[in-house]
Amino acid sequence: MSLEDDIEKARAILRGARSIAVLTGAGISAESGVPTFRGAEGLWKHFRPEELATPYAFARDPALVWEWYGWRRLRIKDARPNPGHYALVTLEQRCEPFLLITQNVDDLHKVAGSRRMVRLHGSLWESRCLGCGEVFEDRAAAVEGVPRCAKCQGMLRPNVVWFGENLDEEILDQASNAAATCGAFLVVGTSGVVQPAASLALIASRHGARVIEVNPDETPLSHACDVALRGSSGSLLPRIVS
Ligand code: OAD
Repeated sequence: MSLEDDIEKARAILRGARSIAVLTGAGISAESGVPTFRGAEGLWKHFRPEELATPYAFARDPALVWEWYGWRRLRIKDARPNPGHYALVTLEQRCEPFLLITQNVDDLHKVAGSRRMVRLHGSLWESRCLGCGEVFEDRAAAVEGVPRCAKCQGMLRPNVVWFGENLDEEILDQASNAAATCGAFLVVGTSGVVQPAASLALIASRHGARVIEVNPDETPLSHACDVALRGSSGSLLPRIVS
């Protein structure tokens, strides 16, 4: 089958689905200039997750962890959504029920206008107090030392999910329910190796959803897909949604 045939097949699946769920990963933001995690230029090629993205790393050296998150904020502060993000907003407007499930912490889906959305791994632009639990929206792109809570002076941490931590149960339930009940499941720009996010595509497939993958490369999820569109989401998503 040619790419054109696959695009047509994907369009037919989306048109015919009574409900749609979408899982996105770092790849959807690649064309916005946000670095991915894996692959030749991925963040995990240059940094070690266990030194920067675990609760133990934060307990050992919170200033170092904040410095890294500050660097990531600086790196993406001017990033804008790309046509892939906007295509998912269009899809949301056309479909009910619909849920966008993202692993991304860059907030570009929200900036693009996605509303029926859950963030599995939190947000780079929020911090959370270790003392009182308050969550603050925090647009500061340069972080000095370890920021403190405006309410109780407790230590703030980035409001993201680190390796070794559980996802928010309510959010995971919402995502799992959407995967188990949708007619079509779209998997975009994820390497499909981080759990439990990756298993959502398998849940969808097992419950009878048609699964569409958009990714330049094959992934461990490709075998569960009815259509695998090989290319960038910025160019392919607008074509399958239009
Ligand atoms: P990865 O960096 O693991 O994978 C990015 C995927 O995007 C790869 O499969 C690429 O082939 C694909 N890709 C690259 N450019 C693309 C483009 N223009 N269009 C579409 N796809 C493209 O990122 P994730 O799968 O999101 O977790 O990683 C999952 C989790 O691992 C992240 O949420 C993060 C990380 O460690 C935490 O921080 C908890």
